[in-house]
Amino acid sequence: MESLELVSTGGALPKRSVHNDDLAKIMDTSDEWIFTRTGIHSRYFCGGEETVTSLATEAARQAMERAGVTADEIGCLVTATCSGDYATPAVSCLVQSALGLADDIPVTDVNAACTGFIYAAEVARGFLQESEKQYALVIGAEQISRYLDMTDRSTAVLFGDGAGAAIFRRTPGSLYHHVLGAMGGLEINVPGAASGMPEKVSMDGKAVFRFATKAMRRGIGVLMEKSEKAFDEIDWFVCHQANSRIIDYVVHKMKAPEEKFFEDMERFGNTSGASVPIALNDMNEQHLLSAGQTLVLVGFGSGLTWGGLMLKCAPDFRAE
Ligand code: COA
Repeated sequence: MESLELVSTGGALPKRSVHNDDLAKIMDTSDEWIFTRTGIHSRYFCGGEETVTSLATEAARQAMERAGVTADEIGCLVTATCSGDYATPAVSCLVQSALGLADDIPVTDVNAACTGFIYAAEVARGFLQESEKQYALVIGAEQISRYLDMTDRSTAVLFGDGAGAAIFRRTPGSLYHHVLGAMGGLEINVPGAASGMPEKVSMDGKAVFRFATKAMRRGIGVLMEKSEKAFDEIDWFVCHQANSRIIDYVVHKMKAPEEKFFEDMERFGNTSGASVPIALNDMNEQHLLSAGQTLVLVGFGSGLTWGGLMLKCAPDFRAE
């Protein structure tokens, strides 16, 4: 199997930013409680015409423009989402149509919740092996706000909406390692329409915290071992942005360099499958990403799923 390199990123957020103080007006909580426990101050919620598809399309368009890649050059499109607008068609199919991508390339969604972007990149890598084209468009896009139970303060304060996108290029011989896993369980779940239960996020917070810290350590550990790299050879660890305490705990336990762990959950909350590409795009826009850097991406979440990638920013990485 060939490797992927990161060529560019894009992102899109709803217009409405919701601060912890706004939530404190409708439930018994406070900015102090939420920020201390999670590192989150605010998040974005979709409104009006905003949908998973509209955010995904905007993020994808920006990534393609920055990469200088045309619709014809895209060899596959995979979107990580667990909150798509339709049960079917896939968000990816609607984005394909909006962007005018070719009609003879694989286009589909992946539901691995907060690990979705890692899974989606691996699915895209598989698709590219059989393609004459070099580029994959991989998106993470969510509207988790649709599933929030605003009477449950222990889950409602954690999540937000948004989309991030990446253009990857198939590049033989480039540094690339992956790890994916799952351990079926209902610790975080949203019942489906057919279950008769409310379609709302429900979570065993403490169990998920324990799982998340183990999954992150396992993902990073496997990638470091496979690559035989040391922490000082990695430029950035870009982890699922669920909770700053989860990242702090892992950094402490692994004696890892804290300054290399990017965090932006303060402004976006947990955007599930969109969080890793939103973080990549946020880093790009802050001029933190550049050609030749080595990145470790890590995801964990409902499923329970977990996984990670180690890859390079392309020599011609298109910074913002
Ligand atoms: N505001 C104020 N108080 C809150 C609150 C909120 N938003 N949510 C819960 N509380 C209260 C609880 O009711 C409880 O009160 P009590 O002691 O009177 O019963 C108290 O705070 C402590 O609750 P607890 O659940 O023990 O808190 P915690 O320290 O475990 O923190 C989480 C809760 C959700 C922040 C924490 O478990 C967590 O981060 N879990 C991982 C969640 C996650 O990241 N999920 C997504 C992974 S992809």
